[in-house]
Amino acid sequence: MEMKIQISTLSENLIGKRVGLGEHGYSAFIEMDEANYLFDTGSGHSVVPNSLILNKDLRTIRKIFLSHGHYDHTGGLPEVLKIKGKVDVHAHPHIFLDRVHVIKENEKETKRFIGLPFKKSYLESLGANFILNKDFIEIEKGIFLTGEVPRKTSFEKPDPRLFAEMDGKTTQDVFLDDQSLILDTEKGLILILGCAHSGVINIINHVINKTGKEKFYVILGGTHLDFLTPEQLEESIRALKQMEIEKIGVSHCTGMRAAFRLQQEFGDRFFYGCVGSVLEI
Ligand SMILES: [Fe+2]
Ligand SMILES: [Fe+2]
Repeated sequence: MEMKIQISTLSENLIGKRVGLGEHGYSAFIEMDEANYLFDTGSGHSVVPNSLILNKDLRTIRKIFLSHGHYDHTGGLPEVLKIKGKVDVHAHPHIFLDRVHVIKENEKETKRFIGLPFKKSYLESLGANFILNKDFIEIEKGIFLTGEVPRKTSFEKPDPRLFAEMDGKTTQDVFLDDQSLILDTEKGLILILGCAHSGVINIINHVINKTGKEKFYVILGGTHLDFLTPEQLEESIRALKQMEIEKIGVSHCTGMRAAFRLQQEFGDRFFYGCVGSVLEI
């Protein structure tokens, strides 16, 4: 589609523009000719203050997209709903799963709840109208959600510290809910990742498969590359370099180590998506 699009990082781990609050999380504010949209909501501390500082009016959003059920992407939902009121919230049904992070240190096991920290009924009482999808779907003309992403690469493995509760059992979290947003533009696809728990290369391959398009104008958001082994990181970078990607603007769970590596490889085509960074096309 031919239009002006502006995507601003609203919540992110780092601030880089002298304004705003940083927090562990991710949220992007998307402005298009016809309407504005919100992708993820951060952990909840920064989405509203940053929207005010960056002059992004949360009352103007037409839809909210949630990438997955982790608190650092969904925790700001009540704050946004208190401002916006009734709004469609698109996500996979598994965003409501109970999720835990397990750390083993010196024989000691620490469990931390990291799922969506609010009940569905509470969010609905604040105005959320949940529209749940599992499959690739066109939400509006030129705006797509990936749905569930098939796991195909050998080097993108599930994070062994993350668990989910399903049917009364705690099992390794496979993140069927992990989905990304696609904007189909005249310059190529814009792909916005939440945490890329499905593996960034799996996601890109799925997007190519479903859209029939291979040209990415930009890839934004959390790539989860920080949690791969050095060998897996190098495999991912090698695969990324073989794809047709004009710009790469990573955030959040990409981490510094992977961000520096991407900067080395992509040079001027790389940027870090800190709070307040803007991509305009
Ligand atoms: Fe995350
Ligand atoms: Fe996550």
